[in-house]
Amino acid sequence: MLHFSRNNLCLAFFLFSYSLDALDNGLALTPPMGWLAWQRFRCTIDCETFPDECISEELFKRAADLLVSEGYANVGYEYVIIDDCWLEANRSAEGKLQADKKRFPNGIKALAEYIHSKGLKLGIYEDVGTKTCEGYPGIEGHEEMDANTFAEWDIDYIKIDGCFIDERRMDKGFPQFGKFLNKTGRPIVYSCCWPFYQDWKGINVNYKLVSENCNLWRTNGDIQESYSSLMNIVDMIALKQDSWVLNAGPGHWNDPDMLLIGNFALSYEQSKTQMALWAILAAPLMMSNKLSSVRLEYKSILQNTDIIKVNQDKLGIQGRRIYKDQGIEVWVRPVEPKSEKYYSYAIAFVNRRTEGTPYLYSTSLRDLGLINPEGYIIKNLYSNHTVSKFLEPNSLIKVLTNPTGVVFLKARIVTKQQRITKYYEEIKNNLFLFM
Ligand code: GLA
Repeated sequence: MLHFSRNNLCLAFFLFSYSLDALDNGLALTPPMGWLAWQRFRCTIDCETFPDECISEELFKRAADLLVSEGYANVGYEYVIIDDCWLEANRSAEGKLQADKKRFPNGIKALAEYIHSKGLKLGIYEDVGTKTCEGYPGIEGHEEMDANTFAEWDIDYIKIDGCFIDERRMDKGFPQFGKFLNKTGRPIVYSCCWPFYQDWKGINVNYKLVSENCNLWRTNGDIQESYSSLMNIVDMIALKQDSWVLNAGPGHWNDPDMLLIGNFALSYEQSKTQMALWAILAAPLMMSNKLSSVRLEYKSILQNTDIIKVNQDKLGIQGRRIYKDQGIEVWVRPVEPKSEKYYSYAIAFVNRRTEGTPYLYSTSLRDLGLINPEGYIIKNLYSNHTVSKFLEPNSLIKVLTNPTGVVFLKARIVTKQQRITKYYEEIKNNLFLFM
């Protein structure tokens, strides 16, 4: 059991909020949000058999249309990102990268223009090695030319993968490409797959270097279409959190990979769990789903503005698992508003138990590290219910969590002034139930 001294929680968050110097492009001051093709569409290149699902300009134009018409753009989803398999097998005669001529007949610049006309931004994928993971031309040996090509095409975000290169050379390759991107003068978010390849090979990752050179970086292997894949990633993050949370902050984020919500595998409860945890983790919110067929209840998870607000919190402090008790994991993230001494918090109670009944878990605010003497106003972010009375640190709360599900709360600090003016009524009954 990973136990964290509850009394020292606030002090610890102060220390964890210390952040490192980051890539100075002024971008990604909150975790980037958008839509990325890979998890749902992979390397589908057969457009005759799969006209709606193949990697083609139509797929990305449709995604852009739906981000806007289905309300995702309104709540912050901004980047439409091409992943692997967009390239021709060879570079042009002048050595430039070129998009597959059949599937992207108008080229990437025209696609960028379309995406921009919708008020969105375009991202693209490449690889720091000689080939992409699916075997298309990589950037190695052509870095400056390729950075210039992406800028000429009006690209706004680039994900650089790490196949087909000796992992020990990544500490040079990734920063070097970042410098060429900077040199273009175009603001381009830089997403790196660097640390997880090194970690995988047993190489000690230089996270200081990573966070100074990338706006976001993958910490773990690929998320796959299952609840167990999701929770394996979550478990690994909990294991590494002591060092990893230190690396996150405005402009530089840990990336645990895409949201699975709206696809085949995750249940409604499990989808709520991923969204809550990605908010706690200050993770990039990259959907990878078929936007035309996301059912309403899943869409409402993806568009929950209270949860997106936690994810996009300006302080940029990544949250962490503070303890596991009775099969319930408690994850906490300090957020705005804050006073001189105290933060507000997002708190996720994640049910990892295996029996079929919902589980009732009790705790006090103090045990969660919530010790602002003026108290807190608590809102249940999924049920939209706010307790309009303030709860003091000794208040007890009960949460009823469904199997594999979550109860996700926001505890907002009450200020002295609000307390004095009795802006909020004081609680009489000392016990509150959230479900
Ligand atoms: C790697 C990355 C994935 C995806 C594929 C594309 O596996 O981790 O996110 O980009 O390559 O081939």
